[in-house]
Amino acid sequence: MTDGLRKGLTAYGDAGFSLFLRKAFIKAAGYSDDALDRPIVGITNTYSDYNPCHGNVPQILEAVKRGVMLSGAMPFVFPTISIAESFAHPTSMYLRNLMAMETEEMIRAQPMDAVVVIGGCDKTLPAQIMAAVSADLPTVVIPVGPMVVGHHKGEVLGACTDCRRLWAKYRAGEMDDSEIEAVNGRLAPSVGTCMVMGTASTMACITEALGLSLPMSATIPAPHAERFRSAEASGRVAAEMANAKGPKPSELLTPAAFRNAQVVLQAIGGSTNGLVHLTAIAGRTPHAIDLDAFDEIGREVPVLVDLKPSGDHYMEHFHHAGGVPKLMKQLGDLIDLDCRSITGQSLREIVAAAEDVPGQDVIRARKDAIKPEGGLAVLRGNLAPRGAVIKHSAASPKLLQHTGRAVVFESIEDMTLRVDDPDLDVSADDVLVLRNAGPKGAPGMPEAGYLPIPKKLARGGTKDMVRISDARMSGTAFGTIVLHITPESAVGGPLALVRTGDMIRLDVAKRSIDLLVDDAELAKRRAALQQQPTPEWAERGYAHLFHETILQADDGCDFDFMRRRGKG
Ligand code: FES
Repeated sequence: MTDGLRKGLTAYGDAGFSLFLRKAFIKAAGYSDDALDRPIVGITNTYSDYNPCHGNVPQILEAVKRGVMLSGAMPFVFPTISIAESFAHPTSMYLRNLMAMETEEMIRAQPMDAVVVIGGCDKTLPAQIMAAVSADLPTVVIPVGPMVVGHHKGEVLGACTDCRRLWAKYRAGEMDDSEIEAVNGRLAPSVGTCMVMGTASTMACITEALGLSLPMSATIPAPHAERFRSAEASGRVAAEMANAKGPKPSELLTPAAFRNAQVVLQAIGGSTNGLVHLTAIAGRTPHAIDLDAFDEIGREVPVLVDLKPSGDHYMEHFHHAGGVPKLMKQLGDLIDLDCRSITGQSLREIVAAAEDVPGQDVIRARKDAIKPEGGLAVLRGNLAPRGAVIKHSAASPKLLQHTGRAVVFESIEDMTLRVDDPDLDVSADDVLVLRNAGPKGAPGMPEAGYLPIPKKLARGGTKDMVRISDARMSGTAFGTIVLHITPESAVGGPLALVRTGDMIRLDVAKRSIDLLVDDAELAKRRAALQQQPTPEWAERGYAHLFHETILQADDGCDFDFMRRRGKG
């Protein structure tokens, strides 16, 4: 028998002795034989003092353990890496694959019949799902849940769309030092993840749409009692899955399930990062996310959820309006309701049970959509042969067709040094260009794509400009911002050829982004490009592994050898 404690024995060359030794040691913790004979549910502990978004994890752990034991199985909590956005240097994305590798190997190495992964802050859910998909053990995902909203001078505030909006006001001189300090204490009023439709909320909604978490689990606020009841129920489901040996992620993650996830990503006005993470998750399966098919989905799926940054509300309002089940109900035939969830239910059953909330206006009907098309569009052109992404639902409509003069920043450091220089030659009609900020170049494709409006323009009232880069952007940000230009400049992508003064044309309706320089001139510039040597930071350790194996955004920025098909 290879279940429970007998699973994955340590290799001493004598299986009987391996089990004897394992039991001897675990008995040191006071377990009885009855407890040790039960199916085991492993539970990841991603609590960290550095990760306030995961501040409710201890309470969630207690609730999951309770649920597992109430269903007759044995919970084993184990620590994994925890990543918090604002505490990860150089950027959390640099660490996502490390967390995915570590979580996968700890799921494989330790005896468990099912696993509960608890995450939320942006990179944690993708990392955990990538791990679970590769390990292919029955898995329940529990998002930690969003923060509740804050208030300032009668206005509702949330991290971090309002962090950026109010910081921009401060930079423009519209807010003084004491007020920005007061705001600083009100933007994140509880534990939990950012409560706008940033990457954390996006990934929680996608996870629910994929059937990997319980209905409503994406939206229950982090401090609410319901969050812990949902965790207890998740523990029960995990115990049932440990007994039944399924369903496994490979049974749930069908092409139709991935399509549903893309429909939901568009309909929530989700984060551009969600596309990169979903691509990485799919890369761990026999399936794939096709950027052009994703764009096609965006043309037929409207934005239905009225949440910042595309709309007005916050995650707790989405929850009280009926959450993801209600959204999928409103999406109707755009969702494949035959897909199944960890509970064994079909989405049809989950949608049928969605709550009808009279008078709610957060989750719209299709005839009353926030935007007629989905939130994200894929652009191509001579600047982005393998694609780029724009969140056009959070952009300025008048800039969606725009031709402007490039103002180029060589790197994030260069941008930081020069963007506020009063002598910078820049006007509101220009296109700000940032390069060397991609997966390999920065490294880790930081969320630097939200280039600040040069101070002198901000003070003159400019709120938005076209900005383009090979970087990512926080899902909480607003603006006409083209991201993920692929291939990135550090590997010789065309972004490396742009010079200040060139003209760039953005046409979102035509899905194009082009450098208006003739081919002969571009060929000349390409011939003059210097091959970049391995940078000093990449000479050893994880940094070396990262630099040598990181894939581009259209491959989800996974490591080449971690995809299901490996390096090939
Ligand atoms: Fe953790 Fe936003 S910083 S979710």
